[in-house]
Amino acid sequence: MSRGLDSAVHLVQQFLSGSAKAGGTSVDATAGRGHDSLFLARLAGPEGRVYSFDTQETAIQSTRLLLEREGLADRVTLIKSGHEDMEEYVSGPVDAVIFNLGYLPGGDHSFVTRPEPTVRALESALRLLRPGGRVGLVIYTGHPGGTEECEAVEKTAAGLDGSLYNVIKIVVLNRAATAPVVIVIEKAGV
Ligand SMILES: C[S@@+](CC[C@H](N)C(=O)[O-])C[C@H]1O[C@@H](n2cnc3c(N)ncnc32)[C@H](O)[C@@H]1O
Repeated sequence: MSRGLDSAVHLVQQFLSGSAKAGGTSVDATAGRGHDSLFLARLAGPEGRVYSFDTQETAIQSTRLLLEREGLADRVTLIKSGHEDMEEYVSGPVDAVIFNLGYLPGGDHSFVTRPEPTVRALESALRLLRPGGRVGLVIYTGHPGGTEECEAVEKTAAGLDGSLYNVIKIVVLNRAATAPVVIVIEKAGV
């Protein structure tokens, strides 16, 4: 896996490592194959907690297997439910939330995250976030519906009150227009 600027996931993880902390709480809004859950579990340490959501059983199983293999399954609560229901399962304050949108790698590509649930989940994540906490999103536009989802997320993020949130967007300038977009939102207050 690339660890350079060519990896949108790595970029988001770097931003989230600035707010996730040992003993804290974080959320993986799209568990998928479990790589982001593993990353957050490492940062959480033995006293911390990660809540990981995915609607597909195969993703929950993949994530569980990876975490068990790495000996960190006890730090992560796996939830087979949509991230739009996040506030039913997680009570704040939360240090970091990651959304790695799109489809499950190696899975059914017709099953993708969608604009309306994603925006609802993002709004939930922002309510749960502690001051100084960060939400990071990796957004893909190369699949059907991806551009609409990206636009919906950007509209929501751009509309946030600048005195309450710091919002940045990173785009790749010298690759295909479908290269992933990164958005990081930080709740002000520390
Ligand atoms: C790009 S993958 C995530 C990759 C993952 N973070 C990893 O480290 O492997 C996107 C995932 O979002 C999941 N998903 C789709 N709609 C969802 C929803 N409403 N709530 C939670 N997960 C959802 C898909 O099942 C898929 O596994």
